Amino acid sequence: MASVAMNLAFLAMYIHRRYFGGGRSDNNGSGKEITTVEPSKGKPPVTADSVVNLDHGDPTLYWEFWLGTGDRATVVIPVWQTMSYFSDLTGFCWFVEPGFERQVRRLHRLVGNAVVDGYHLLVGTGSTQLFQAALYALSPADDGTPMSVVSSAPYYSSYPSVTNFLNSALYRWDGDANTFAGDACIEVICSPNNPDGGIRKGVVKSKSVKTIHDFAYCWPQYTPITEAPSHDIMLFTVSKCTGHAGTRLGWALVKDTEVAQKMIKFMELNTIGVSKDSQLRAAKIIKVVCDGYEQSPTSEANRLFHFAQRKMAERWSRLRTVVAASGIFSLPDELSSYCTFAKQIVTANPRKHHI
Ligand SMILES: Cc1ncc(COP(=O)(O)O)c(C=O)c1O
Repeated sequence: MASVAMNLAFLAMYIHRRYFGGGRSDNNGSGKEITTVEPSKGKPPVTADSVVNLDHGDPTLYWEFWLGTGDRATVVIPVWQTMSYFSDLTGFCWFVEPGFERQVRRLHRLVGNAVVDGYHLLVGTGSTQLFQAALYALSPADDGTPMSVVSSAPYYSSYPSVTNFLNSALYRWDGDANTFAGDACIEVICSPNNPDGGIRKGVVKSKSVKTIHDFAYCWPQYTPITEAPSHDIMLFTVSKCTGHAGTRLGWALVKDTEVAQKMIKFMELNTIGVSKDSQLRAAKIIKVVCDGYEQSPTSEANRLFHFAQRKMAERWSRLRTVVAASGIFSLPDELSSYCTFAKQIVTANPRKHHI
């Protein structure tokens, strides 16, 4: 009897492994399977001969912080949830998850890096999608010709390619904002700027200029927060704020209702809204960031921006040492200002660097 029972048990285990993918998932003792996600593959190992590629980066450097938060920032989504296309048919934007919106507004109030009252909040598959939605909403020019899109050089290398890749009749890339001689245009203002970390203001003087502020790096780990800006369109992303680039989630604060509605139209036509799963995950991540400042004891393990600021400062210090030793390159001088979030003088540690 015992031997038959054991054989049956082994058979059951074999069938489970064979047909339900045993070995890929862990069982944490609660009977629930936890999916093990493998780390990104194909990144070459860092060796003494490695060449630094400044073309693109992958903001995974806050990994240790998130490892430290353990299950506090984990979100479990039962399979029968998030099935509908719709998030909130009573809200301004039907595909924004109310919980995500609440946490984003809370985060901006905590950090003081953008005015949120009186703004519509839109969500996008990364701020990259919202950038395109904004181009669509602000174009064409009044006379029906394609809107010129400009930004002060040096600018983020994706702006020209993302603007031009579909050969749109609504807008086209027109280069450096400093040399723009026309009238109507969209000026993209990235501050702190990728790639040189500079604090930017618009430079186009024409009355017909429309602006998109890309605030991907407007977070305390990269720059002292000096004011809460209130521009027409402000773009943010979890990619650079919390380091969750893979969640592909960005948001836009938009002042004008008509522009916001056109941006929503773009999102509907482009992807019929934005992943609810990602929004729920981002909401939880942002909640943990806010809780870390508002509820937990004040240790670095709970304070993302303090942890991240230290990481960035360490990396800049290493980079400065290496660059000084080479004698070939130079780096911009350190800039410090009073940060209204940290309530002290803070040195800027922009993520990108112009060598
Ligand atoms: C200035 C700037 N804006 C936007 C993005 C893209 O952000 P997302 O991952 O949200 O699409 C990046 C990514 O490097 C960036 O540097």
